[in-house]
Amino acid sequence: MTPAASTARFEGKVAVVTGGASGIGLQIVRRLVADGARVMIGDLDADAMAAVGGELGDAVAGVATDVGREADVEALVAAAVDWAGPLDLGFNCAGAVKDGLLVDLDVEDWDRVMGVTARGVFLSIKHEARQMIRQGTPGALVTITSINSVTPVHGVTVYNAAKAAAAMVVQNAALELGEHGIRSNAIAPGLIATPMTEYMRSIPAVMDAYMEYAPLGRTGEVDDVASAALFLASDEASWITGVNLLVDGGHRTVGYPNLTKLFEGLGAPADGGA
Ligand SMILES: NC(=O)c1ccc[n+]([C@@H]2O[C@H](COP(=O)([O-])OP(=O)(O)OC[C@H]3O[C@@H](n4cnc5c(N)ncnc54)[C@H](O)[C@@H]3O)[C@@H](O)[C@H]2O)c1
Repeated sequence: MTPAASTARFEGKVAVVTGGASGIGLQIVRRLVADGARVMIGDLDADAMAAVGGELGDAVAGVATDVGREADVEALVAAAVDWAGPLDLGFNCAGAVKDGLLVDLDVEDWDRVMGVTARGVFLSIKHEARQMIRQGTPGALVTITSINSVTPVHGVTVYNAAKAAAAMVVQNAALELGEHGIRSNAIAPGLIATPMTEYMRSIPAVMDAYMEYAPLGRTGEVDDVASAALFLASDEASWITGVNLLVDGGHRTVGYPNLTKLFEGLGAPADGGA
């Protein structure tokens, strides 16, 4: 009898996951380990990384990392290679947000959010890719941007700008790294249930407003993003590079009011009289 094909599609692979101690990054870590990879987490939160180690055991390790600091990111990649061998995969999930209207935004908050969310992605891709080029083996990079990288939203100017910058870094990386067999893609999630969005999701009026923009009728779960991220990292996506894939439940399709309901209410023809 032919043995069943292994479903462990990342067996023996080595991954770095920034922001891997919580939310989307943590679910990517869990799914990678379930699929056979060894994962080095780079996160600011050392206690949370220790808890992930307690949950997942020897398949994960962690290094306290601020992705906005180049020395930290370089050390993270080196630690992954020392611990587990050549780097195959980089998942860049760390991000920071600051609410506030543009006219009220302090330059310190602008610099801090850009430092994590844009510069952190640049530094992560830079050092992950350098390592892959040095090794001479192909690899895949997946960065978590946001629907905000392509859609302005009131009150989060710096986050949106940082995510747009990150999305462009991802595409430039695809352009420059293809010759080394390195693919670079991004996922642009809509609203996902994680600690980052807990406050927003706790306000019923906010969620009612959001649901007007949710064709699939729900917010996203971390697995919705992790599934797409692992697909983009896998050999099944071997001819995909440079995309910023919306994983948003159709949120971005809602760019125009639903006038059909209004017309029906007025007893007008469904085509609006056109
Ligand atoms: N949750 C959403 O709705 C949503 C939507 C779109 C995009 N995103 C993006 O997804 C990514 C993950 O967000 P999440 O919702 O899972 O948030 P989260 O708060 O659950 O996790 C973020 C993790 O990043 C770590 N981190 C923060 N700053 C860091 C730094 N400077 N260096 C290293 N690690 C740092 C935190 O310690 C935390 O473990 C972020 O880039 C976020 O912008 C989230």
